[in-house]
Amino acid sequence: MNVSDSELVESLLRKEGYKPIENPDNADLLFVNTCSIREHAEDKVHSLLGRYNILKRNKPSMVIGVLGCMAQSLKHDILENKPYVDIVLGPDSYKKLPEILNRHKSDNRSMVDTKLSRFEVYDDLFPSRKEGVNAWITIMRGCDKFCTFCIVPFTRGRERSRSIHGIVSEVKNAISSGYSEVTLLGQNVNSYDYENRNFSVLLKNVAQVEGLKRLRYTSPHPQDISMELLDVMGKYDNICNSIHLPLQSGSDRILKRMNRTYSREHFINLADTIRTKLPNAGISTDIIVGFPGETEEDFLDTINVMEEVKFDSAFTFKYSPRKGTKAVEYEDHIDEKVKQRRLEAVISLQKTHTIHRNENYIGKIENILIEKESKRNPLKWLGRTDSNKWVVFNKDNSKVKDIVPVLITQAKDITLHGKIFSKAKAA
Ligand code: 5AD
Ligand code: SF4
Repeated sequence: MNVSDSELVESLLRKEGYKPIENPDNADLLFVNTCSIREHAEDKVHSLLGRYNILKRNKPSMVIGVLGCMAQSLKHDILENKPYVDIVLGPDSYKKLPEILNRHKSDNRSMVDTKLSRFEVYDDLFPSRKEGVNAWITIMRGCDKFCTFCIVPFTRGRERSRSIHGIVSEVKNAISSGYSEVTLLGQNVNSYDYENRNFSVLLKNVAQVEGLKRLRYTSPHPQDISMELLDVMGKYDNICNSIHLPLQSGSDRILKRMNRTYSREHFINLADTIRTKLPNAGISTDIIVGFPGETEEDFLDTINVMEEVKFDSAFTFKYSPRKGTKAVEYEDHIDEKVKQRRLEAVISLQKTHTIHRNENYIGKIENILIEKESKRNPLKWLGRTDSNKWVVFNKDNSKVKDIVPVLITQAKDITLHGKIFSKAKAA
């Protein structure tokens, strides 16, 4: 989401005559688009700002701005303790950038705008994208779920959806600029609702755009995945068989405390249904360990759901207390060492599941969209399966953005290896 927001900001700045440069030392403007999701993300921003402060000492005319989620929660800290920051803008205020920059030029004063909007969806703004295979397209902003661990509903505000028309025009625009794949983005994509048209309707409309080879989306909430959505995914070949299904915890007691609104049983049944309705679907997840009050038994429930579902991949996190959320108020926070031990256990279990899932691909022919050259070997390509797995293979005569059939020959660590399959070769 932040990559996508940065593309919006870049597009606004280009209209004002600015252009991106490689080396920050010589920049006239330096913006940090920030994330508050965990403490680690915020720490990275503080250290980056420290470095930019040093650059500004050598070039005092440099304007430094803080954008996005941290702007909301840390505006006082930024203004009081980081006087070198000139501009602080929340995620709904980017359109004010041109005006703010002009004002700053004349009076050199700091500007802060972190107001959240009920309406801003940047529907009429085309992001400025780097050349590539995949275009991120934001379809909704904000979140109304209020999971008790999560800062997003506070930093990004209320849910609101972009028009189907605006999204479809952006998809068409992306395709005519050479993109083959589109990923629809939102904090909660399946809460999408524009004039009573839901996410399944949107997906259907986007899938029908001519020239779109692959369509992905992230992230849905497990509570809101409908049969209608799975039917649409099954019906259109260009919608990828891949779902990110954030589990967070496998314990009913913890799920309730997290306000996730589903049970472990619902989640396991849903994963089963997905794999029945969409054979070969890749399912990835997010897992938090060490949520306040998580006992050894609760943790084992998470391990147990992982064993049941055997995710294709997982993003795993230690619970990070976020000021202003309900979970920080809970009294039974978990010791750091216990969190670390649990994190290591889920990481190593997931590795075995990823390898297990990947091994099922050996001997199969998969259609791979070629994305880039392998960093380790310039003679090889890297591309993804429909189910979102990375595959490495020899280039032969193919080029980036081709979709080629690849025979999977090996599953090494978390990557698949293969070779381009042609009938002539097979014979
Ligand atoms: N601590 C740890 N992980 C978190 N996430 C969100 N908030 C927190 C937090 N306070 C994780 C969730 C979410 C992913 C984007 O980040 O797993 O799905
Ligand atoms: Fe955060 Fe929950 Fe909303 Fe996801 S659904 S952004 S975890 S509050």
